[in-house]
Amino acid sequence: MQTRRQFLKISALTTAVFPFLKVKTFGKTPFKESSTKPIVLSTWSFGVPANAEAWKVLNGGGWALDAVEAGVKIPEGDPKVHSVGYGGLPDRDGHVTLDACIMDEALNCGSVAFIENIMHPISVARLVMEKTPHIMLAGDGAYQFAIEQGFKKENLLTPESEKIWKEWLNKSGYKPKIDGVNHDTIGMIALDTNGRLCGACTTSGLSFKYHGRVGDSPIIGAGLYVDGEYGAATSTGIGEEVIRISGTHLVVELMRQGRNPQEACEEAVNRVVRNKGSKIDSDFQVGFLALNKNGDYGAYAVNKGFQYAVYSQEENNLLKDSKSHL
Ligand code: GLY
Repeated sequence: MQTRRQFLKISALTTAVFPFLKVKTFGKTPFKESSTKPIVLSTWSFGVPANAEAWKVLNGGGWALDAVEAGVKIPEGDPKVHSVGYGGLPDRDGHVTLDACIMDEALNCGSVAFIENIMHPISVARLVMEKTPHIMLAGDGAYQFAIEQGFKKENLLTPESEKIWKEWLNKSGYKPKIDGVNHDTIGMIALDTNGRLCGACTTSGLSFKYHGRVGDSPIIGAGLYVDGEYGAATSTGIGEEVIRISGTHLVVELMRQGRNPQEACEEAVNRVVRNKGSKIDSDFQVGFLALNKNGDYGAYAVNKGFQYAVYSQEENNLLKDSKSHL
């Protein structure tokens, strides 16, 4: 199983491979009223290089949808990130299965779940949105669609991920464990210069899960939701708990009813906490990130340690240790 220490090492490595980026880091941060655009936010430290890629689109006046797709493809293609795309940790049978979704400012959305052997599921999700009458394709159907669209079949299980899986097999009794240290999705939300809000979310999901398990990340309203009139939200952490409360739809709906992004994230986390009660411990993590139409943003998590990246006004910052319930 991937430990928190391993995860932190992985996160540090991800940032380390992009030394050319000027990155400032901050401790606990309050709700930030930025009222600026463009702006892009994403989860975890691998959000820093992802935001840098998204910024190239946003800074040139491009569409937030193109920005979020380009941005999340960076961790999808990075073998050192063990919770997204290529190099993601496999399920308990050794298959790397991926979940992703994308949504624009006009409620257009596309998603793939439980897809294998495709490096960039986010781009397949976008094509589901643009080229089919559907929103979600899963499993072999999603794979076949990707191949028809010109994607290549690729082995996503790297030697390093295979080694971590084999170590897990040796000590786990083949029993998946749900905790907060092996779910670290990239969720990205952006507002472009024309005021268009869009988002993307992509992950290899819970490591060593049952074959066929799908988390929150490809589910519109769970891992990602965007209402172009009000706001966008994305989530990370234990997908089962986010699905249970329709987490990101809840956050956006609360913003629609007048809460600011920070208040909306806090209320969604409070619902998770109320639901789980005493079962919450230091291994349990769910976090939300939200952005409104003005470019104001907020973040809140159940546990300490949630990090997110924000790129605006030419600064790409990693905000360490967001406000949290515990
Ligand atoms: N949040 C990612 C997952 O649970 O699959």
